[in-house]
Parts: sequence; structure tokens; C-alpha cells
Amino acid sequence: MNRTKRATLGGRLSAVLVAAGSAIGLGNIWRFPYVAGEHGGGAFLLLYLLSILLVGMPVMLAEFALGRSTQRNSVGAFGRYGAKWKAIGYLGLLTSFAILGFYFVVSGWTLGYLVRALGGTLQHDHTAAEYTALFTEFIRHPWQPLLYTALFVGMTHVVISLGVQRGIERTSKILMPLLFIVLIALAIHSLQMPRAAEGVRFLFEPDFSKVTGRTLLIALGQAFFSLSIGMGSMITYASYFRPETNLRHTAAGVTGLSALVAILAGIVIFPAVFSVGLEPEAGPSLVFVTLPGIFNDLPWSGLWSSIFFVLLVVAALTSTISLHEALTAYVHEEWHTSRRNSARIVSAATLLLAALASLSTGPNDALQLFGVSLFDALDFLSANILLPLGGLLTCLFAGWVLDRTTFDEQLSNHGTLRYRIRRLMRFLLRWFCPALLLLVFLDSLGLL
Ligand code: PHE
Repeated sequence: MNRTKRATLGGRLSAVLVAAGSAIGLGNIWRFPYVAGEHGGGAFLLLYLLSILLVGMPVMLAEFALGRSTQRNSVGAFGRYGAKWKAIGYLGLLTSFAILGFYFVVSGWTLGYLVRALGGTLQHDHTAAEYTALFTEFIRHPWQPLLYTALFVGMTHVVISLGVQRGIERTSKILMPLLFIVLIALAIHSLQMPRAAEGVRFLFEPDFSKVTGRTLLIALGQAFFSLSIGMGSMITYASYFRPETNLRHTAAGVTGLSALVAILAGIVIFPAVFSVGLEPEAGPSLVFVTLPGIFNDLPWSGLWSSIFFVLLVVAALTSTISLHEALTAYVHEEWHTSRRNSARIVSAATLLLAALASLSTGPNDALQLFGVSLFDALDFLSANILLPLGGLLTCLFAGWVLDRTTFDEQLSNHGTLRYRIRRLMRFLLRWFCPALLLLVFLDSLGLL
């Protein structure tokens, strides 16, 4: 097989930063608050954290081990173990495509809000009803959301075309730490808003009366979504990791940072939700209708909101890059066409889907799938069905098909690192995670 030399990532921190760039994004800042809001707050947070720890981490390690040992895109990586296993890789590509279909739309919204923040128009409104009207008007506009979605696809395309090292690594390195700092500042501010205590209680006080088997599925789905696992992005990124990268530390770092950002986003959003008089169950619009209220309360609100939306755009961008990269690496390596060409094919196809999803939330509500808008269908389908399914298959593959020596060698860097959780990992991947995922699936299908 003619293969050009693969790119690798630079220094010691790069693996963590690049993988965290993929993991931290709209999933933590936009999706987590709205899903937690719809599913009872505190109890959901607890289930989400447990999912990350007990299922998310093992799956991420399995993906890292598979990616780094095969040095391949996800289809190629599974294919090393026999052609039939490629199916798991293909499922991941489909998931990536579905996620990009709505993720590009929300990314476009963040860009639209950035433009409003810079232009000073975000500060004109003052009541919850006005914030809601602003959002609805924006997403129903005949061409603006489409334009911003297309711009976002274009930005992602440029970074992907620049290549892994120049494009992806640099963006993550500078802007992720900045995002963190701004979130902390905003969280401190939100905690001082009137009725903040109600928001904090909602986020941290578990009320198990709302928890069902379905809630667990949704928490697991959110865990997969926010860690970028179950679909091949982390396999692809790990194929660029260096031999000396410590996979366990990387996974722990990424998981910890991602959970922290989700919690911080919750601390920013929920106190403000109660303080401006909105409902935590508002759905996908939650963050967009809450944020203007937070900023209006601050001195130099225009500056704060502009900085925040710049960072949100970047967080979204480092995630769309990883979704795009999973598809591009596949087209490039398996269809044997140039990287540039592959990137073009992926951008064109995802732009088409995202445009339809964007229209489905506003101007054209006839664009439906399973009785909901195409946008909602893609969000639900990918996070709550495709990702947990991909995760289930990945666990089974890592526990039963991937040979034990390869897995152990990857996690211990060929015996040079101490690796004491060998048996725990094996148990989790072989038995615990698949059984849990299967039960949760059956339960939510009403079969239990
Ligand atoms: N983890 C990203 C986020 O939280 C979304 C994502 C999902 C990225 C799957 C890559 C793969 O925003």
C-alpha cells in the first residue's frame, strides 16, 4: 500500500490539548445545559459524571489504543482486524456526518451572535421575552443563519486544508486556555445575579424522581457526545499521537477538562436562567436566550459578549475540525485521493446537510424526519442512538477482538510505563460497559 508519512503532533502537551479541543465545544456549553435542564438538573449531572468515568474513559482509551497502534483512519483501523469490522468504522463516519449536519448550524448561530455582540445590537434587549424573540427571529431569517453556517463550513475547511499540525494544533493551543479563564469569570458573575441560588440548587441538588432508564441513555449519549467518542474522531487523532504520549494521562486530562467545562457552563447558565425568569427546559435555545441577560448585567457588556462569542466560535471550530478530520482522513486514505480533494468532498457534502438542517429550524419547517425538524432529528439520533451504539461496538471490539498484547502495549508504551489498571480496564471493556449499554438500549426501546 502506498502511504505517505503520517503527520504527528508536537510537544508533550499537544495530545491533550488537541484531543481536548475536539472534546470541549458546543456539546459542553450549548448542549449540556439544555439537556440537563430538560432532564432534571442535579440528577442528570450525576449520571453524566458517572457515565464519563465508567464508560467514557474506557471507550476513549480503547479508541486511543486502536488509533495509535494502527496509525489509520477509523475504517482502516478496524479493517486491520478483518474486513467485517470496518462496519464499526463506517457507522462512525455516518455519525460524524449526522453530527456535523446540526453542529455546523449551531456553530453558525454562535457566529451570528458574535456579529451582533460586536455590532452592539445584542445589548438592546432587556427582558426574557425580548431575548427569546431575538433568537427566534434570527434562526427564522431566510438567509442569515444559512450564510453563517456556510461561513463556518468554510472556516473548518481552511483549517483542515492547512493540515493537522499547522491548522489543528495551533488553534487549540492558544485559545482553549483562554476559554477556560473567561468561563470562570462569567461563572463568578452569574453566581452574583439575583435568584442565583435557585440555579445552583437546580444544577447540584439531585432530584431522582425524574430519572428513568431513558434519562440514563440520554446521560450516556451526552457523555459520548462531549468526549467525542463512539464515532472515530479520537481514533483518527490518536493515529497522530507520538509513541511516547501517555494515553491514560491524556484520556484523564481530556475527560477531566471536558467535565469541568460542562459544570462551569452549568454554573454560568442556570443561575442566569432563573434570574432572568426563563425555564430551564427551554431546549436548544436555552444558552442563546440566557446569555444576553448575563452580559447586559455586566459593565462593558459589549466587550464581554464579544470575547465570549469569539471563544465559543473557537471551541466549536476545534470540534468541527475533529469531526471533519475523521471523514477527511478516511476519504484521503481509503479512496486514495489527495488531502485537499478529500477535504473538498467532505465540506461540500456536510454543507448540503447542514443547509437543510438550518432551513428546518426556521424558514422551512416541512423539512422533517420522524415527526421533528431535521435539525432536532440529527441531534437526537446521533447523540442518543448512534454514539451509544458506536460506543457499545467499540467496547465489544476492544474487549473481545483487539488482541490483548496490542492493547496493553499501547497503554503501557511497550512496558515503559507502570500500568496497574489492566484488569479493571479489561473488565470494564469486556463486560461492564457493553452490558450497561445494552440494558439501557433495551430499556429505552421499551423491551425491558
Ligand atoms: N465533543 C464535541 C463537543 O462537545 C462534539 C463532538 C462530538 C466532536 C463527536 C467530535 C466528535 O462539542
